Amino acid sequence: MSVLEATGINKRYGGLQALSDIHLNVAEAEFVAVIGPNGAGKSTLLNVLTGLALPDSGKVALAGKDITRAATHRRIRAGLGRTFQHGRTFERLSVLENVMTGAAIRPELGERALREAAMTVIEQMGMADEAHDAIGSLSYGRRRMVEMCRALACGPRVLLLDEPAAGLNSGEVDQLIDRLSDLRNRHKLAIILIEHNMGMVMRLAERIFVLNFGCKIAEGTPAQIQSDPAVLSAYLGEGYVHAGV
Ligand SMILES: Nc1ncnc2c1ncn2[C@@H]1O[C@H](COP(=O)(O)OP(=O)(O)OP(=O)(O)O)[C@@H](O)[C@H]1O
Ligand SMILES: [Mg+2]
Repeated sequence: MSVLEATGINKRYGGLQALSDIHLNVAEAEFVAVIGPNGAGKSTLLNVLTGLALPDSGKVALAGKDITRAATHRRIRAGLGRTFQHGRTFERLSVLENVMTGAAIRPELGERALREAAMTVIEQMGMADEAHDAIGSLSYGRRRMVEMCRALACGPRVLLLDEPAAGLNSGEVDQLIDRLSDLRNRHKLAIILIEHNMGMVMRLAERIFVLNFGCKIAEGTPAQIQSDPAVLSAYLGEGYVHAGV
């Protein structure tokens, strides 16, 4: 069964059709990547799924329930967690406090349980040594990891990531790949990943969804996408070397 399903999504900004009749569904514990050139509509799609943008038409359902017009905080409580393309962390708070702001979406948790939930995620993501560090003292890559911890602390069923590898060094990217595999395999989380890092996409995604000028131009396995003429011409480039997946 689809845990998240978008059907017939259209979104226009003035004269620009940012999304045209998009159908995307994600099953439980499935890893889907959304790729495409700059301005293709990837972040807009994530915004429609999470409620930061309302579609002009179409529907979004989470676990079979219509959330097309639900407020963002309700969607988060219902199981959607996300990170942003341009990172957002609270600079004056510690790592733990930042992650606790994510857990706070669960009103049933008291202060102590909230702290424990946040610590569990921090440990799971390999950040225990930095839990009490101020965000300002961390590298850019580690800050982005804090954002992911915060999204996870909301207890999501689906995690939506907007270019999490942007600005990371290669060691950090490798670590991110390990953490994401772990989240999918061990924690059965459904993940939608927007990324320009094709090495990462090809290693992680079970299914790839390709957008160009707001339209889906292809959808398939990494192997299918890497040899799809429309994708090569619109995005990957004719000289794209098959990553052997
Ligand atoms: N709030 C907005 N108002 C007007 N136009 C917008 C708005 N948000 C996005 N757009 C336009 O919609 C199109 C899709 O933008 P979007 O940010 O979704 O692209 P993207 O695929 O995420 O690109 P990138 O890879 O650069 O992040 C772009 O032409 C963009 O300028
Ligand atoms: Mg974007």
